Amino acid sequence: MPNNQATIALSLSLSGGQGKTLTAYMIGLKVSKLGIPTLLIDGDPQRNLTDLLGVEVENQPTLLEVITNKCSIEDAIYPVPDRENLFLVPSDRALVNAQHYLASSANCSRVLKKRLEPVMQDFGLIMIDSPPQKNHINLTAIGAADVVVIPAEAVAKGLGSLTETWALLEECRDGDAFDGELIGVLPFRARVVGLHLTGEASSTLAKMESFIGATILPSVVESVIYQKALNYGQLPSELDADKAELEAPFDVLLERLSKYVPAIHSEVVPV
Ligand SMILES: Nc1ncnc2c1ncn2[C@@H]1O[C@H](COP(=O)(O)OP(=O)(O)O)[C@@H](O)[C@H]1O
Ligand SMILES: [Mg+2]
Repeated sequence: MPNNQATIALSLSLSGGQGKTLTAYMIGLKVSKLGIPTLLIDGDPQRNLTDLLGVEVENQPTLLEVITNKCSIEDAIYPVPDRENLFLVPSDRALVNAQHYLASSANCSRVLKKRLEPVMQDFGLIMIDSPPQKNHINLTAIGAADVVVIPAEAVAKGLGSLTETWALLEECRDGDAFDGELIGVLPFRARVVGLHLTGEASSTLAKMESFIGATILPSVVESVIYQKALNYGQLPSELDADKAELEAPFDVLLERLSKYVPAIHSEVVPV
């Protein structure tokens, strides 16, 4: 991949409440703060990412119009308020209508990648947030992705979601509808009591680790600070510098991303 082309990353997990939107949000905020032009794509009709970033659109183009080829991608990119280098292709409930269009496309898995082509040189990273089920929006997002991260709650439901998501990626790879790489599984909302993970969290993590192997990332711990940061459109470290260690899982994820987005590397390594 030439260096002047954006890397397309996807936050994917086939259940709700697994940390997909948090992952896209954290990576978007952190990478754009490094001075790297970053485009977030809200691929979920529930539009949580659009709301969190405070992007308001009414009767203006969204991801639906991009996918269905009613407008060009440039017309559906909005700056994120109060953030430099961060942009969003928003969504709303109407995005469910993209399903029909994609289902009847000759090659659903190529549609989003093709739509993004005109702006591939304008961004270092394009990060897609996805809906919580196997559908055509997810299939076209998987087809576009160079790298995938699977967030999964550190409880039994998360393990189930991880297994299903992994199986979908393998199915897509087998059908030549995915040629990217899984760069990490991110355990989400791991519960800590005192200094230790709860029994349920640590046994789920052990199962995830034995299922997936070396790609497992440090856990995002259950914390009200995250919820507060999301409410204010901030990073935990922006609310309180002492909370920077909460972001460690995303710093490790950034390090893994730096293999694909070289600008991250040159920025995070101290001079
Ligand atoms: N570290 C955290 N601890 C507790 N709750 C969190 C944390 N991070 C995010 N949340 C909350 O968890 C919920 C699910 O996260 P979200 O990223 O929206 O999952 P998904 O996109 O997979 O549905 C959201 O309501 C969010 O505010
Ligand atoms: Mg979400």
